[in-house]
Amino acid sequence: MKILGIMGSPRRHSNTEILLDRALAGAEQMGAEVEKVAVSEIKVHPCMEIYACRKEGKCAIKDDMEWLYVKLLEIDHIVFSSPIFFYGLTSQSKAIVDRCQALWVRKYILGMETGDKRVRRGVFISVGATRGEKLFDGVVLTVKYFFNAIGVKYVGDLLIGGIEHEAQIREYATASQDAFLLGQRLVCPDII
Ligand SMILES: Cc1cc2nc3c(=O)[nH]c(=O)nc-3n(C[C@H](O)[C@H](O)[C@H](O)COP(=O)(O)O)c2cc1C
Repeated sequence: MKILGIMGSPRRHSNTEILLDRALAGAEQMGAEVEKVAVSEIKVHPCMEIYACRKEGKCAIKDDMEWLYVKLLEIDHIVFSSPIFFYGLTSQSKAIVDRCQALWVRKYILGMETGDKRVRRGVFISVGATRGEKLFDGVVLTVKYFFNAIGVKYVGDLLIGGIEHEAQIREYATASQDAFLLGQRLVCPDII
């Protein structure tokens, strides 16, 4: 079973990545093969809205999305992560989401069948500095529709407010265990 973790923060080894690593460790502990892609290490141009994808469901922009599309369709489950930037995803992770419009087009405009009978699951991890009730509403909706476009069911999340400084999440008592459990549950949904 292959799990892809997308690390959506431009800041390496900080809050988002610490939680993502724990989730991937949980998945690994349940026997999954895990891989992490950090957005700061790849080049993904924003969607240009030229709709070249309307022809055959293929994006015309040539960059790291070429192999990321393959990976997104190949893996069994996904852990997507991003801190909150202005109540949204980071621009780097949003670029990946928007470029998956090509996969949305395949599904909803071209009616292309993937032939994939797997039930693929996805979980989402996010952190933000403030604690407002609606802090994660926007990003959760975005990620739900992103998962739908790539054929993944949104099955859970870990959303933590009040975390601002670099690696501050280490001071949050239950975060590490919660992230580990999220990763375990992604692989084995029945685990308590
Ligand atoms: C450009 C930018 C915009 C941000 N916007 C918000 C925001 O709207 N709401 C919020 O609660 N935190 C916001 N933050 C704070 C980050 O979400 C927070 O510091 C988070 O812990 C960063 O995670 P990281 O260390 O994994 O990158 C923003 C930070 C930056 C750099």
